[in-house]
Amino acid sequence: MCRLVLACAVFAAWVCGFLGPASCGVYYNDRPVIGVLAQENLESDHDAKGSSYIAASYVKFLESAGARVVPIRINETEEEYRKLFYSINGLLLPGGDVDIEASQFTRVAKIFYELALKANDAADYFPIWGTCQGFQQLTVLTSNKNLLTLTDTKSVALPLNFGPGAQNSRMFKNIPKDLLHSLSSENITSNFHSWSLSIQNFTRNAKIKRFYKILTTNTDGKKEFVSTMEAYRYPFYAVQWHPEKSPFEWIDKPGMVHAMSAIRASFYTASFFVSEAMKSQHRFPTQADEEKALIYNYIPVFKGVNSIFIQNYYFD
Ligand SMILES: *[C@@H]1O[C@H](CO)[C@@H](O)[C@H](O)[C@H]1NC(C)=O
Ligand SMILES: *[C@@H]1O[C@H](CO)[C@@H](O)[C@H](O)[C@H]1NC(C)=O
Ligand SMILES: *[C@@H]1O[C@H](CO)[C@@H](O)[C@H](O)[C@H]1NC(C)=O
Repeated sequence: MCRLVLACAVFAAWVCGFLGPASCGVYYNDRPVIGVLAQENLESDHDAKGSSYIAASYVKFLESAGARVVPIRINETEEEYRKLFYSINGLLLPGGDVDIEASQFTRVAKIFYELALKANDAADYFPIWGTCQGFQQLTVLTSNKNLLTLTDTKSVALPLNFGPGAQNSRMFKNIPKDLLHSLSSENITSNFHSWSLSIQNFTRNAKIKRFYKILTTNTDGKKEFVSTMEAYRYPFYAVQWHPEKSPFEWIDKPGMVHAMSAIRASFYTASFFVSEAMKSQHRFPTQADEEKALIYNYIPVFKGVNSIFIQNYYFD
């Protein structure tokens, strides 16, 4: 529509100035590219090649909502990450099983987290999504402390308890009523975690409490924990549950759900996060750079239906 970038920018500034900041979001980048952070291979993974992996379900999750994915490998230099940061429109920190204080995964997550804080402070919109381990990683990055506690939530599907913060949250304010009803009454969110952020520790830690708003909670019967949160002042979102599993993972065990409502919840969250990434104007310097970075350059490995991840990407 707007061929001249400058004319577009001037027009956007004029519309924003005229109608107020609420209208600024209409200038969507409809070709978003989202980085998914790789992590150290599991020792128990006999198909593993190289040193790191990304479960393909996280890639499909984002692709299902209109984004393309770039893998972020864990052994690159800070300078390379900085360059990548200004080329992509968001970051997804996936689930997994690494040390969230001392891994390479953590080193890279911290670099992007700090770049994202700085960018957002300068009105350069850059969203982050954390799932499960990604949620936990964000709590460590924000508080500089591991506040997690063990819970009995290793393989169980739960309904979400929506708190008062959910209603006017960015993540849930536009959720269809019937989907909200399903999420709050059916056992459709997959929990595969041993560690959780208890409401007690959330409330006692000033840094966490000031930074994030609790949207939903859950309990293992003994401890109540945060299951969904979003940052007040940053487009950072975290779910302790796994929206990507329902449509894209097929291991048959307790906690796995393929109900239509679970799949709708997956697409709702993916679509929400991708719409956030569409507000970022970052781009690769050239189309060739973009092509070289995209995940299409890698071939996922089929690990079988009894694997916790049905397909993985592996990286040197
Ligand atoms: C990361 O690993 C790859 C493959 O082993 C290697 O080619 C590359 O130089 C490494 N990069 C850094 C920054 O260590
Ligand atoms: C609170 O966090 C500490 C670590 O800072 C942890 O040892 C403790 O188990 C946590 N307690 C609860 C109830 O979450
Ligand atoms: C949901 O899960 C809980 C705890 O596992 C169980 O007690 C309850 O019966 C389940 N509800 C449904 C509708 O399956």
